Amino acid sequence: MQDTKLTLRAEAPIGTISPRLYGHFAEHLGRCCYEGLWVGTNEREIPHQNGFRTDVLKALQALPVPLLRWPGGCYADHYHWRDGIGPAEQRPVRLGMSCGLQVEDDNSLGTHEFLQLCKLLGAEAYLAGNMGSGSVQELSDWLEYCNSQVATSLARERAANGSREPFGVKLWGVGNESWGCGGNYDAVQYAKEFRRYATMLRHVDPTAELVAVGLEEPRPFAKGIEPHWNQKVLDELGGHVRLMDHLAIHYYWVLGGPEIDFTEEEYYALLNDAAAQEDVVRRTAEVIQAATGGRHRIGIALDEWGVWHPEARPWGPRGAADCRAPITYEQANTMRDAVATAIALEGFHRQCNVLTLANLAQIVNVLQAVVMTEGAQMWVTPTYHVLRMHRPHLGATALPVEVSHGSTIPGGASGVSATASRNNRQVAITLTNRHWDQPATVRIAGAGSSAEGRGELLSADSPRAYNTADEPERVAPTPLTVHRDGDGYRVELPPHSLATIVLPSH
Ligand code: AHR
Repeated sequence: MQDTKLTLRAEAPIGTISPRLYGHFAEHLGRCCYEGLWVGTNEREIPHQNGFRTDVLKALQALPVPLLRWPGGCYADHYHWRDGIGPAEQRPVRLGMSCGLQVEDDNSLGTHEFLQLCKLLGAEAYLAGNMGSGSVQELSDWLEYCNSQVATSLARERAANGSREPFGVKLWGVGNESWGCGGNYDAVQYAKEFRRYATMLRHVDPTAELVAVGLEEPRPFAKGIEPHWNQKVLDELGGHVRLMDHLAIHYYWVLGGPEIDFTEEEYYALLNDAAAQEDVVRRTAEVIQAATGGRHRIGIALDEWGVWHPEARPWGPRGAADCRAPITYEQANTMRDAVATAIALEGFHRQCNVLTLANLAQIVNVLQAVVMTEGAQMWVTPTYHVLRMHRPHLGATALPVEVSHGSTIPGGASGVSATASRNNRQVAITLTNRHWDQPATVRIAGAGSSAEGRGELLSADSPRAYNTADEPERVAPTPLTVHRDGDGYRVELPPHSLATIVLPSH
């Protein structure tokens, strides 16, 4: 088989890879927030810091987690922020609702606790506002409570609850999936409501960045959802489009069959679905460009993305047939999901001029979690390793990479793909061998050859491999030798693997 050649085009940088593209999502859904992140301040068995599991904190601190969205998801449109402030024992117990689950919600993890978590993780907070069952006044009050510098009653209440200083939360979601669980709005009705909410929120804090609910074209299996949502919302807003800083879209990969026992065909179907996410971003950018004529910048907020296997959903391809009962929204996370994630991140870097933030769904236990817990045990998933291995790219300048020669995969794409970035110290390249069972030799040009490179590889004996509490290291990174090779470098990639190599700037 012919070697693959990668050529870095350092002379044509794409743009800056914002750390916001590496955001996460914590919803009060299943065991994500309660149990996964938060065990409460009265917990005796599991070590914690002010109620947050110490082991989970430590793992997340090593990622990093630059951005965290909370409290939903569908949960956000039932959430009333006042329920989650003040003395914990006086907080009401409500019906916690998201995605069809109904649980007792004691509100012990509220605004102050969440913002404390963000501080511990070094994450920027992104709060999702309730437009489904809340009001403009309620969301304006939350914004004032969090951010006001003026000593209003709300700001004094914040101080009495432990934070004299304003939290300065920049990112505010105005609804979530308002075309569905967030109220079944139609596009025009949503645009009118968004205009009212956004106008009032801007009065309270002109520096808040407002995220509107968007929807790229509904997928064929999503019945009854309005087409051309984004265009209709933007058209209806007209000149008021300036109230919008980001337009949110969600994309879940659902075409890969079972979580573990997938076939080779299903393996590639999932990778293709992950790759298709970039087209969704591109199409959204085109709609924004057409509507604004480039006169006002609206970023794309991919604020929910990742794999959602049929075992963890009652909807979509094979959903009802294969869904576990009762549904927990938990799923296995295999080496295949890791490869798919690396493919998606290549797209993020290529689209970094239009994609302004992204949140992987979700952070602990639920969907494509990076961390799993079971009682006192904790382990990290292959996806965790992928994100950690991308750390050198955060804040760096994305560079185009040309791929030539090498083998292809079904559908014709190159078996090996890559993303590269540089900062003033180093060039980082993440390479993915998408192939089910063929290794690849990769030669790298355009990054010099004078210095020693270091590399890290994530691979497994099978694309179906995953980590468990008993076998937490089955999929874990290992060092990779980077060979100097003429005027470039060479690496060897096993099948279904990815690697990051770091080369000092030349
Ligand atoms: O991430 C799970 C759910 O998926 C969210 O609550 C919702 O926004 C989406 O439909």
